[in-house]
Parts: sequence; C-alpha cells; structure tokens
Amino acid sequence: MSQKILVLLFVSAVLVSAACFADDSNANSAALTGNPIYKKDCAKCHGKTAEGRHFGGPSLVSEKVAGASADELRGMIANGKGHMPKFTGKLADSDIDQLVQQIKAANQK
Ligand code: HEC
Repeated sequence: MSQKILVLLFVSAVLVSAACFADDSNANSAALTGNPIYKKDCAKCHGKTAEGRHFGGPSLVSEKVAGASADELRGMIANGKGHMPKFTGKLADSDIDQLVQQIKAANQK
C-alpha cells in the first residue's frame, strides 16, 4: 500500500520537473519579449514570442540572426530594410542598443 503511494509521488515529481524543463526553451528571449519597447514597436511584426509572424517580420530567434554581429543588428533596426521600418529618430540609441543585446541573448543556446 505505502509502496504504491511512493511510486505515485515519484511519478508526479518526474512530471512536474518535465514541465519545468519544457518551459526553458523560451527563457532566453524573456528579456526581449518583456521589453516594453519590443511590445510596442516590434511585436506586431515579429510576434509576441519574437518567433515571427506570417506576412509580418521573420523570427528574431534564428540561425541568421544568431550569425549576425551586433553592428549588423543595430544597423538593421536603425536603418530598416524592405518592410522593416527604420527606428533612427523614433528610438534612442540606448534603446536600440538594449534591443540588440536582448536579441543576442535570445539567440544564445
Ligand atoms: C512593420 C513591420 C515591422 C516592424 C514594426 C519591425 N520589424 Fe523588424 N523586420 C521586418 C521585416 C519585414 C524584416 C525582414 C527585412 C528583410 O530582410 O527584407 C525585419 C527584419 C528584422 C531584423 C533582421 C532579421 C533577419 O533575419 O535578418 C531584425 C533584427 C529586426 N527586424 C528587429 C526589429 C526590432 C528590434 C523591431 C522593433 C524596434 C522591429 N524589427 C520592428 C518587419 C518589421
């Protein structure tokens, strides 16, 4: 009888820890997607989770972004490209720098 309870406790402990690990995949992008500037100016195209939107912007968590230098990302945000608007004059340099750091962090494995 008590053995069954132990087995039950063990199984539920495993399930609970599995649920915690499942959450970890997005932990690195939390700073970016929690940034009020991101929510206001970027999420409508790049998505609430920064993983992109159909007919909007591409995912900001990708091989391509991971391979881009901080300067390239800063240039992309400051000057825009194609349907990506430019944010020079709309955001302070320090805000753009912070976004660059948070995009970099989101792409760290
Ligand atoms: C109006 C929609 C729109 C908004 C708003 C927008 N983006 Fe984009 N973004 C795009 C599109 C479209 C591209 C792809 C541009 C291309 O390569 O032609 C892009 C590309 C990018 C890239 C390069 C990604 C890559 O794969 O090379 C970065 C970084 C980026 N955006 C960051 C941001 C940030 C940070 C903000 C908010 C300050 C933002 N974007 C707001 C549409 C948008």
